[in-house]
Amino acid sequence: MCGIVGYLGGRDVYDILIKGLHRLEYRGYDSAGVALETPEGKLNVYKAMGKVSNLEAFCRDKDLRASVGIAHTRWATHGEPSDNNAHPHYSEDGNLALVHNGTIENYKVLKDALMQHGVSFHTETDTEVLVQLIEYIKLTNGCTLIEAVREALGQVQGAYAIAVLEKGHPEQIVAARKSSPLVIGIGEDEFFLASDATPFVEYTKEAVYVKDDEIAVMRRGEPLRLLNLKNEETTVDVTELNLSISQLEKGGYPHFMLKEIFEQPATLHDCLRGRVVEHGRRIVLAGVMDNEDKFRAAKRIVIVACGTSWHAGLLGKYLIQELCHLPVEVEYASEFRYNNPVIGPDDIVIAISQSGETADTLAAIQIARQKGAFVYGISNVVGSSIPRETHSGTYIHVGPEIGVASTKAFTGQVLVLTLLALAVGHLRGTVSDQQVAELGGWILRLPTLVKEVLKLDKKIKHLSAIYTYARNFLYLGRGYNYPTALEGALKLKEISYIHAEGYPAAEMKHGPIALIDADMPSVIVAPSDHLYDKIVSNVQQVKARGGSIIAIVSKGDTEISKIADHVLEVPVVPECLTPIITSIPMQLLSYYIAINKGKDVDMPRNLAKSVTVE
Ligand code: F6R
Repeated sequence: MCGIVGYLGGRDVYDILIKGLHRLEYRGYDSAGVALETPEGKLNVYKAMGKVSNLEAFCRDKDLRASVGIAHTRWATHGEPSDNNAHPHYSEDGNLALVHNGTIENYKVLKDALMQHGVSFHTETDTEVLVQLIEYIKLTNGCTLIEAVREALGQVQGAYAIAVLEKGHPEQIVAARKSSPLVIGIGEDEFFLASDATPFVEYTKEAVYVKDDEIAVMRRGEPLRLLNLKNEETTVDVTELNLSISQLEKGGYPHFMLKEIFEQPATLHDCLRGRVVEHGRRIVLAGVMDNEDKFRAAKRIVIVACGTSWHAGLLGKYLIQELCHLPVEVEYASEFRYNNPVIGPDDIVIAISQSGETADTLAAIQIARQKGAFVYGISNVVGSSIPRETHSGTYIHVGPEIGVASTKAFTGQVLVLTLLALAVGHLRGTVSDQQVAELGGWILRLPTLVKEVLKLDKKIKHLSAIYTYARNFLYLGRGYNYPTALEGALKLKEISYIHAEGYPAAEMKHGPIALIDADMPSVIVAPSDHLYDKIVSNVQQVKARGGSIIAIVSKGDTEISKIADHVLEVPVVPECLTPIITSIPMQLLSYYIAINKGKDVDMPRNLAKSVTVE
């Protein structure tokens, strides 16, 4: 969701910015733009609606010389996607150009005040208000850009990551952040700036994550300066990036999503590394071990997350209730934050987020902290905001997830939640040594078992052709596979735009069964578990109403295989590990149906990878 790139240094500025924008495409956007300042201090802004390639076409005959530049991909919030609303935005006199991620909540009040002082506006965006405000302060106070930025940010409510260029100052970028990510790459006499480190990973491994309420001043030939809003210098913490360029490429696959589905044996292996030791007999989860007293004393767990991460959270509830005997509530972060949550020091709040930047989840964390809860984060992106805002946590270590539809991050999240439930259960005495050893052994085999599941690829590709033109789908499951069914339905709808509902199989008869006919296929997730006999009768109910059935069952299944139209067999695993196995055929089914429909699976319409606005 919106991406910022900036560069100050001796390389080809335009080239770095465009490549950087392409790297950030996965975040989701609808227009793009670039501001380039020539060595003589002329400030040019070029913008185009649609893909970055449209911007490149637009720029072909333009003056692309530059010593410094900033660029942006916009995901529209205030004002429709258009050339005009795209960033960067000029200030009234054209002396400043600014890019912005986030939303300025009080933009209307600020805009009205500026208009009263004679400032005119040319776009519908909240961002233009910010650049006009900075210029207005600069002119009225006769101050420097840095002072004007600081004063303007003091008046702004909302979330922002910004970068500003000033005409006549081709040696400088001023940037700032609050609740929207911003990272600076430090090279030899050069600075990179971006929403995440992917645009500059091949140029430098030295990164500085800008913190909330910090202003960054990058000047050629000078060290990076960070200032807080009181104008005090703050420390520059340099982090070594652990990211490689090959992780950001498709590696021979036609799409990132397919690559990421097929990477899962390796990503699960990476996620497990060093955490399941002594042949499965011991779980080593630093975040739990460092906070044993908290996990021992906890009276309740509350999980907050959004989307796919929420589905992983729901699985976390089943796992923690079974293995730790602790009550667990799972809340959408967007609801939790406004619902007067009853939370206290006896609670542990687990926040799950692939990107580590989801605005609603971040807000939920802040509320939980204010109310005295211990907050544990489960994230993928090292150095992102959520790991920094939580007391402790675990990274899922599945590598960058570029496809907008989450796949390998989901299985990584579920795996970490499984390890957490086992570790905490053992700590609290609800899981025996023998149970740890048994489940630990199975967990170590998961990468190999997932490889086995991926052999269904051809069969699923073939199957997808039959269902490409279905207009509705039902996904049914029970117990551990109810959240998996929800996730299967979400995957299908977000990339193929087919309406799909996930439902607890037994609930179907309380309403959705009315929808079933020959045109409404059902995907039924029914591995051999303690609810298997129950789900058999749900399958019969669908069949009796003429619905076609794709069943995901355990190898050797007899009952459901006889009733279903299509059967996908997956390896037998203990019940609590089935979601990792059963979710994979559904990822493939969604992928192939979307491909058959000619959809852009990696960048589905309207969606953003990193949802940094409310
Ligand atoms: C769906 C998907 C989204 C995200 C959601 C939360 O495939 O990716 O539903 O799960 O936007 O994002 P994170 O996990 O980054 O907080």
